[in-house]
Amino acid sequence: MTPTFKNNSLPADDRRAVARNQCWLGKKFNLLVALFALNAAISRTIAAPAAAESIPSRDTPAHVAALRFMRGINLGNDLEYAAGNGAGGLTYSAADFDLIRAEGFDHVRIPVAWHLYAGPAPNFTITNSIFTRADALVNNALNRGLAVLLDLHHFNEFTAKPTANTNEFYAIWKQVAAHYASRPANFALELLNEPNDAATTTVLNPIYAETIRLIRLTNPGRTIFVGPGEFNSIDQLSFLSLPKTDLNLIVTVHCYDPYYFTHQGAEWALPDTAITGVLFPGPPTLPIPATDLTQKKITHTWVFDWFKDYNVKPTSVNPSSSFAFRAKLQRAKTWSDRVGRPIHVGEFGCYEKADAQSRVNFYREIRTQMETLGLGWAMWDWKAGFHYIKNGRPEPAGMRDAMFPPPVLNSPALGSFEIQGAAGKSYRVSRTPSLSAPIDWTAIATQMLTAPVMIFNDVDATNQAGGYYRVEWLK
Ligand code: BGC
Repeated sequence: MTPTFKNNSLPADDRRAVARNQCWLGKKFNLLVALFALNAAISRTIAAPAAAESIPSRDTPAHVAALRFMRGINLGNDLEYAAGNGAGGLTYSAADFDLIRAEGFDHVRIPVAWHLYAGPAPNFTITNSIFTRADALVNNALNRGLAVLLDLHHFNEFTAKPTANTNEFYAIWKQVAAHYASRPANFALELLNEPNDAATTTVLNPIYAETIRLIRLTNPGRTIFVGPGEFNSIDQLSFLSLPKTDLNLIVTVHCYDPYYFTHQGAEWALPDTAITGVLFPGPPTLPIPATDLTQKKITHTWVFDWFKDYNVKPTSVNPSSSFAFRAKLQRAKTWSDRVGRPIHVGEFGCYEKADAQSRVNFYREIRTQMETLGLGWAMWDWKAGFHYIKNGRPEPAGMRDAMFPPPVLNSPALGSFEIQGAAGKSYRVSRTPSLSAPIDWTAIATQMLTAPVMIFNDVDATNQAGGYYRVEWLK
């Protein structure tokens, strides 16, 4: 049923500038046509994938769990590095976690190099010191209502020689799983960050299966994240084979496209990443000449090809635009729907050497694309080289809106409206008969979006003499 307002109107009165994370629907007859036209345009741009209704197993424990891991942040450059490694050395205080929660993230991903703290074979006993440090981060997050994803990061000995190091891999996971067995349902484990080298997807399939079996001995209900090879590449998903009867597995992928934009200036990937000043979206007004690449000692032909396209191709097909990840993320979603496993994009991001506005543009575009597809994400990173914040605030300033835009409202029919937000977010809908102070808002519903667009029908609308709605995102 679609209730109708007596005054026959429901245009949007958008007060986003006044109150972040809130949207309002009001009742001004004369604005009706213009605002509806505007809203129709908005809704076209965020059209959800048609296959959304045909997910084979949409209500598995993993699908339920995935809604707790929709908007995350990576706590990089701390526990994934050995003491004394210049790339590490960051620490995360209670203030960081307060801010992470206040900004609107719902989970943290904690990278840990457990293998650096494992003793000799056969037990590979992990020292208490790393558990103490990891526990501090885990507790800080859980105590604030943030879900936690704990991984195994940079285990290069394993990825170089998986067979030779399988026992250590199992031993690490047996200990880590036992240590965290009593944690709540919003605590999850991720088996391996960015498998690469000899740790191909097919090599990993049986190792993952056995690791999952071992973890299940102490953690029968734990959500486990598993990713394909080639650095958690989306293109490897079709090779991933997971234990069929285990329905609490989330598949995690990484997406750093467009790489020569996101990694420009990255010292650890030189010389291919030496060209800075790459904009998003391309093409640039001033093309980057090939001689600049030669001067930086770049030799790979594919880098030259990339810049050739970047210099001239229109934005819709420019390699430094959403063209670089749109189809890829869609493929991940299609795979997810087909096999009935939720997808989480555990890392994406842009190094701080990129132009500030381009970083904001990039984060907004990729976040929009993931949320339109209903994919959970965890941005790399909180306050290191790819940072969300710097000196205690989002940086650049547009970063917050790029990652946490206010909900968009639309009235597809009189008496009902559409909330375009992101799956996993909860919204409170309130109603008031008048906007004259003091405003008397009555909360009429709180709903969590399970898809990026939700239709809300006010069943009591016909009994009202008109009024205004407010929609607030409950962080
Ligand atoms: C690595 C980081 C790196 C990031 C982006 C992560 O998986 O652990 O060291 O900065 O990817 O390349």
